[in-house]
Amino acid sequence: MSFDRSIKIAPSILSADFANFGAEIRAIEDQGADWVHVDVMDGHFVPNLTFGPPAVKAFRPHVKTVMDVHLMIAPVDPYIEAFAEAGADFITAHVEASPHIHRTLQAIRGAGAKAGVTLNPGTPVEAIENVVDLVDLVLVMSVNPGFGGQKFIASQVEKIRRVREMIGDRPIHIEVDGGVTPETAPLVAAAGADVLVAGSAVFKGGSVDNPEVYGANIRAIREAAEAARA
Ligand code: DX5
Ligand code: ZN
Repeated sequence: MSFDRSIKIAPSILSADFANFGAEIRAIEDQGADWVHVDVMDGHFVPNLTFGPPAVKAFRPHVKTVMDVHLMIAPVDPYIEAFAEAGADFITAHVEASPHIHRTLQAIRGAGAKAGVTLNPGTPVEAIENVVDLVDLVLVMSVNPGFGGQKFIASQVEKIRRVREMIGDRPIHIEVDGGVTPETAPLVAAAGADVLVAGSAVFKGGSVDNPEVYGANIRAIREAAEAARA
């Protein structure tokens, strides 16, 4: 996997048809998705429940691009090995989910995955200052985690800019998650994000029988983001 800062669209399968993940993953990839974003929730760190390692393992053969696993679980350390074995390319953990985030990030890399660290909307950039050399990705949440379809929190744009400054020349992706649409994509792209997660804005109006809608939705986000970079 080579590093670059081009705009990457990562549809969140939280907004897919839960009875048809294999076909949904193939449909979004055929329609131009760059990464596949998998939201793991535990009903404890966040007020919602989704998938465990067996589900992630079942998605793996369908994902031809990059499987980006966003862990919204606490504790997180006991499950890192299982998600790595399930085939996650990136494993991202929240600063608040681990009493020892430095150790958690080391464990993710130790398990053979790329490591991501996540900032909630209320978490300051300083929280990751001392772990920046241990990560391959910084995820800035632009909603409070737990649900798709929430409103973008505009104050996070300035945070993205500050993260971008902090990482300088390091080969670290900046990902943004929550409320990303063709309207908000230009703001986050201009601030320095390169991986744009989008759930509702990608899946809305489409289906595996009507996948061109996914393609049009992905293109609309990408074009808006790229125009803001130019
Ligand atoms: C929220 C999840 C997001 C969510 C995004 O906790 O981490 O990935 O699915 O959904 P939208 O794009 O609908 O805000
Ligand atoms: Zn997510």
